[in-house]
Amino acid sequence: MDNDTNLLPEELTTEIRARVFETPGFIRLTQSLTRGGKTFRISLRPITIKGLAKFQAEMVDDGRTRVRNFDEAEARDGLDEILAQKGRRDLHLITVDGDLHLRVTKKGKVLTSRGKASPTPSEGVAQPEGAHDHIKKQPLTAFPAEALLKIIGIADGDGRIKPSMRGKYDQVNALLRCIEPMLPDTPPAAYTVVDYGCGKAYLTLALHQYLVHAKGFRNVSVLGIDRNPDVIASARAMAEALGVADEVTFRDCTIAAAEAPDSPSIVMSLQACDTATDDALIAAVRHKAERILCVPCCQHELHHALVGGGPMRAPLRHGILRERLADLLTDTFRAQVLRICGYRANVMEFVSGEATARKILIRAERGIRPAHGEAIAEYTELCAFWGVSPYIGRALLNEDGTPS
Ligand SMILES: C[S@@+](CC[C@H](N)C(=O)[O-])C[C@H]1O[C@@H](n2cnc3c(N)ncnc32)[C@H](O)[C@@H]1O
Repeated sequence: MDNDTNLLPEELTTEIRARVFETPGFIRLTQSLTRGGKTFRISLRPITIKGLAKFQAEMVDDGRTRVRNFDEAEARDGLDEILAQKGRRDLHLITVDGDLHLRVTKKGKVLTSRGKASPTPSEGVAQPEGAHDHIKKQPLTAFPAEALLKIIGIADGDGRIKPSMRGKYDQVNALLRCIEPMLPDTPPAAYTVVDYGCGKAYLTLALHQYLVHAKGFRNVSVLGIDRNPDVIASARAMAEALGVADEVTFRDCTIAAAEAPDSPSIVMSLQACDTATDDALIAAVRHKAERILCVPCCQHELHHALVGGGPMRAPLRHGILRERLADLLTDTFRAQVLRICGYRANVMEFVSGEATARKILIRAERGIRPAHGEAIAEYTELCAFWGVSPYIGRALLNEDGTPS
């Protein structure tokens, strides 16, 4: 087979270049080819980063996705490389004016078909400027999040939210909405995030992308910490695939043993089990975090320790009521210790689509006078009433309730 017969006709390559770079309304170009039983796919689409027009290339190499952002000159070279590929392949160009679909057969024959513009892409799929105003505004639709969602496994290969991951998608959106009011109005010179018990790093990576692409923050550095080496290995691979491994790093260790930066802009801890939530709050206070966002998980310490006397014997007699009371008191103690340590703490309901989501969220901001007497008295009296000495208080307070 003569390779040159395998090239695309010049009138088609000229048309494609013009529709990608010269005519408004370019949505996406995708080329797929199979070599040696492996499928390679590359997609190019326009995105906006910090107000600048760029192009994002997503490369899927035998199931492994990688993403890179380019300026126009680099994207032009990249498109030339795509168009110069040989062999059997499919190329699909989508613009607001309609689709162009090319199939190059094994023998080099080019089959062309044209269609109307594709119907509205799904939520999370990048759209041309202004095209997605009708989609309900969610943080994950406030920037081109398709590559992120695919890489973290929330979206399928076509960019659609997987039905099994809808709950996680809603939860990440809900958490980003909770973080939004905690962010500075104007992009700071640098912004540091620590995520304790980051798990599969859905929020860790989503927050990084949201800060950079939706909020225009620069110098964002994110550290995810988890004691499970498997989730850390997969989180590192996802950061690498997203091209952000320099800015989003991960450590495989316990929260208590983790080395973390001082004065981080925000510390997060979402559903870290048992006293790991306390460890995260303790680390946040010791490192003087500016803001804290915490969704507690189960905590067992007080379940057996509560000894409230008098009328409180009645609820404590029933396992489920004892458990709920212990959970409420645990979060009460956490918020109170944060107050004593100089944080304005709010406990609120956290509503997310995920069926298993805990319903309490603690949001705290550093900046009130630490150790004021009334807060200490409330704390020590509450401890005495229930006959307990909570984990977080033992770590952060002296016996008299003042910060240690
Ligand atoms: C329920 S998962 C939540 C993961 C993630 N934050 C999320 O919301 O998707 C809890 C994570 O906390 C981690 N973890 C629990 N205790 C920890 C500790 N003491 N130190 C570090 N990681 C811990 C677990 O390995 C697990 O990945």
